[in-house]
Amino acid sequence: MTQDSAQYLTGFGNHFATEAVPGALPVARNSPQKTPMGLYAEQLSGTAFTAPRSENRRSWLYRLRPSAQHPAYVPFDQGRVRSGPFTDAPPSPNRMRWDPLPVPETPTDWVEGLVTYGGNGDAETQGGAGIHLYAANRSMTDRVFYCADGELLIVPQLGRQVFVTELGRIEAEAGHIVVIPRGVRFRVECPDGEGAPIRGYVCENYGSPFRLPDLGPIGSNGLANPRDFETPVAAFEDVDRPTECVQKFAGRLWTTTFDHSPIDVVAWHGNNTPCRYDTARFNTIGTVSFDHPDPSIFTVLTSPSDTPGTANVDFVIFPPRWMVAEDTFRPPWFHRNVMSEFMGLVTGAYDAKEGGFAPGGASLHNCMSGHGPDQASYDKAVAAELKPHKLDNTLAFMFETRWPIRTTDWAQTSPTMQLDYDDVWTGFAKGDVSLKG
Ligand SMILES: [Fe+2]
Repeated sequence: MTQDSAQYLTGFGNHFATEAVPGALPVARNSPQKTPMGLYAEQLSGTAFTAPRSENRRSWLYRLRPSAQHPAYVPFDQGRVRSGPFTDAPPSPNRMRWDPLPVPETPTDWVEGLVTYGGNGDAETQGGAGIHLYAANRSMTDRVFYCADGELLIVPQLGRQVFVTELGRIEAEAGHIVVIPRGVRFRVECPDGEGAPIRGYVCENYGSPFRLPDLGPIGSNGLANPRDFETPVAAFEDVDRPTECVQKFAGRLWTTTFDHSPIDVVAWHGNNTPCRYDTARFNTIGTVSFDHPDPSIFTVLTSPSDTPGTANVDFVIFPPRWMVAEDTFRPPWFHRNVMSEFMGLVTGAYDAKEGGFAPGGASLHNCMSGHGPDQASYDKAVAAELKPHKLDNTLAFMFETRWPIRTTDWAQTSPTMQLDYDDVWTGFAKGDVSLKG
C-alpha cells in the first residue's frame, strides 16, 4: 500500500468526535443556541430516528454554511447510470461475464465514468442494490456527488483514488474498500493525473446499512475486525467558488450549483461516517480438515434484509489464503444458489477460472443458474497432489444478494460482454457408473 497523508480514526460503527479546528465541536450539546465559531449544526441521519439504539446511525456536522443553502435541482444527463427498479432490459437467467471496463480515452471524471451493470429491488422502497463500475482519468473539479438512493461500497481496482468527503479525506487503491453513507457528498480525485486512470466497482446498497456479520461459533475475533476500519478525521475547505452538486435521487441524476464548496464541515461527531478498510487485514478463516466451506465464511460486511440470515446484499472477498484441505476438491464447487452473485476481480487470478476473468472484469451468476469451475480448473484440481498450498496474488470479490440481478441494456449489449462464456462449462467427460471407487 502507498503511504497516505490522510488521518483516520479506527473502529467500526464507533461514535467518533473530530474537529479540524480546536474548539469547533460543541461540548455536551448537539445544537447549542449558538454554535462555536458561528458554524451551522446539522444532523445527518443514516437510519430512522426511532431505529433501535444498536442499529441507529446519525452524525452531527458543524459547517461553514447550512446544507440547505442552494438553488433548486434540475435534471442531469443520466449517462449510463440506471437504477432499481431495473426495467430497461428483460431479466436474463444466463451466466454472463465481461472483459474489463475500458479506461476512457477522453477526459472523464468519476461521475461521467459511472456505468450501471445491473441490480435489483427498488431504490425508493429501500431494498436491493445497484451495481456499477467506473473508469475515469480526471479529478472531479468544482463538482461533488451524493447518492440519496443508497450507501456506496466502492472497490477500487486500478490507480490511486482520493475520496474527499464532507466528513474527511480517504485515500484508497486496489485492496481497499471505501464505504460512503447515503447522502454524504464527496469528490473523487485522480491524484496521479490523467496518465494514471482509475477504475473500480460500486455496490449501491438501497437497504439497511452495511455492518459486520455476526460471528457465531467463530467467536469474538476473526474475519474483518472492527479496529481495522478507518474513518477520516474532520477536514474542510473554505472555497467561495461555484461548485456543482450532482445527486442520484429516486433513480435519476439531478444537479444544482452551490456558490461554495459543500465540503465545509469543520467538525463532526457520530457514527454515520464514511470509512476505509484494507482487505489485507481480513482474518481469513477456512477448513483445516476437508471440504470447501460456503463462501459466506469470507463475508466482510453484510446488509441484512428482514429475513434472518438472508442478506439484502453481502460483500464477500476471496483473498490470498492457504489451502490445506485433505481429500477435497479445493476450488469453489459446482453449485446453484438461491442468492444471486455478481463478482469482480481486483487483482491476479481467481481459483475457479483459468482464464477469461480478468482484473477489472466482472461476472454474473444469477439465481439458480448452474456455475462453478471451468474445465481447465476442474481438471487441474482433481489431478492435483494435495499439499498445503498458498493461493497468492489474488483478490476477487462478490456482491451476493437475495434477489435476481437484472442487467441493464448496456451490460447485455456491451462489446465487453463475452458471448462465449457458456463454453467454459462444455466438454466435461460424463461420469461412468461402471467405474468403482
Ligand atoms: Fe457461486
